[in-house]
Amino acid sequence: MFKKEVYLERRNRLKNMVKEGIIFLCGNVDSPMNYPANTYKWRQDSNFLYFFGLDYPRMAAIIDIDNDKEYIFGDDVSLDDIIWMGPQPTTAELASEVGVNNTLPWSGLREKIADAFDTGRKIHFLPPYRGETKILLESLLGIHSAEQKKQASVELIKAVVKLRSIKESYEIAELEKAMETAWLMHTTAMKMAKPGIYERDVAGVIEGIALSSGGMLSFPAIVTKRGETLHNHYHGNKLEAGDLLLVDAGTESPLHYATDHTRTSPVGGKFTEIQKDIYEIVLEAQVKAINAIKPGITNKSVHLLAARTLVEGLKGLGLMKGDLDAAVEQGAHALFMPHGLGHMMGLDVHDMEDLGEDYVGYDDEVQRSDIFGTAFLRLGRKYEPGFVLTVEPGCYFIPALIEKWKSEKKFADFINYDKLKPYFNFGGIRIEDDILVTENGHKIMGKPIPKTVKEIESLIQESI
Ligand code: GLY
Ligand code: MN
Ligand code: MN
Repeated sequence: MFKKEVYLERRNRLKNMVKEGIIFLCGNVDSPMNYPANTYKWRQDSNFLYFFGLDYPRMAAIIDIDNDKEYIFGDDVSLDDIIWMGPQPTTAELASEVGVNNTLPWSGLREKIADAFDTGRKIHFLPPYRGETKILLESLLGIHSAEQKKQASVELIKAVVKLRSIKESYEIAELEKAMETAWLMHTTAMKMAKPGIYERDVAGVIEGIALSSGGMLSFPAIVTKRGETLHNHYHGNKLEAGDLLLVDAGTESPLHYATDHTRTSPVGGKFTEIQKDIYEIVLEAQVKAINAIKPGITNKSVHLLAARTLVEGLKGLGLMKGDLDAAVEQGAHALFMPHGLGHMMGLDVHDMEDLGEDYVGYDDEVQRSDIFGTAFLRLGRKYEPGFVLTVEPGCYFIPALIEKWKSEKKFADFINYDKLKPYFNFGGIRIEDDILVTENGHKIMGKPIPKTVKEIESLIQESI
């Protein structure tokens, strides 16, 4: 946990922004996997962590702005629990660690919420994403789960996004610590990129590194030689010479700050010519995009710069043609990169996605595109110092998408479909780094993970 003052300050800022009513923040509960006592790995809600820091299940909080009071709800453990879980701090002890003076048992929640209802006060809550939280909200607030997202407090969402978007120095230090683990995960994965190894061998080792750092994966790892499937979680393939191994994985620090990197390595340690050509194009798109990052520039424009770099490279290979500005404007590049350049990162790997992507990534000035590909960009708005975000361009050859567009003659002025046949088994390449926006520019977070063709080939070859 950070020191008490951090949480007091965050809640004070929140109160000043939301101004009136009560704020109800619900922590997570343990969620059953296949029977009630066999639960998924515990993960606290990130908003609860941000304002209250307490990494324990079945806690909730109310910030009563009008009466300037804060409450934490939770049950102290019984002797039965102690037998199974060992001694646990009391709710009051935990609350005092984060500067909260009032605690009540879980059952007190109903009464406090009912009081607020009866006195006609505004109850601010955030959009729930877990079934258990939806059931609780329905029982406390009488709002059907299907309606809760719509009735969540826009003032609260906007205030939380404003606060969590800017990472403070102690958060950056925590992120940097996690980056050391990320470096070890990715360099280890690269060294394992050899014929005969299974994807699951790599997946197991890198998850182990995350766990042994005291954290956990920040999302289910993507470890695949079929990188054209963007979120490929199948780990059963055996690596063979000539394959590309795409590893998109991150860790969480013990305080749950995330990392998110992707590297694509040639199995056996030598890119083929065709792989190298595409790799260099994606790398150029990534480096150019990173270099363009500074406060005041929009991520949408940097996304389009990466797309422009990609199409220019693909034109050089004869895969695209025509007016490249028009190709990007109309979205023809999305055949090869049907996703956005990146997203905010912090306590969540896709930071605050539970609050609504448009609140996090867009504003009155920058709106989401409705063109296929560019529409998937999660972050479009202007950078501000303190933002942490990913830059992750890629180039994929997705046979089903190519066939479909080809049959529709879609963007036939920009795409040389006849030249794509040799790429049908290519797979995909993505390169991803985590970037901190500084006062005047940016910083790539963490110790550099090998990224150039030469660096990656050398690392793999040295380990053979
Ligand atoms: N979680 C995959 C990515 O955003 O990189
Ligand atoms: Mn990633
Ligand atoms: Mn990412």
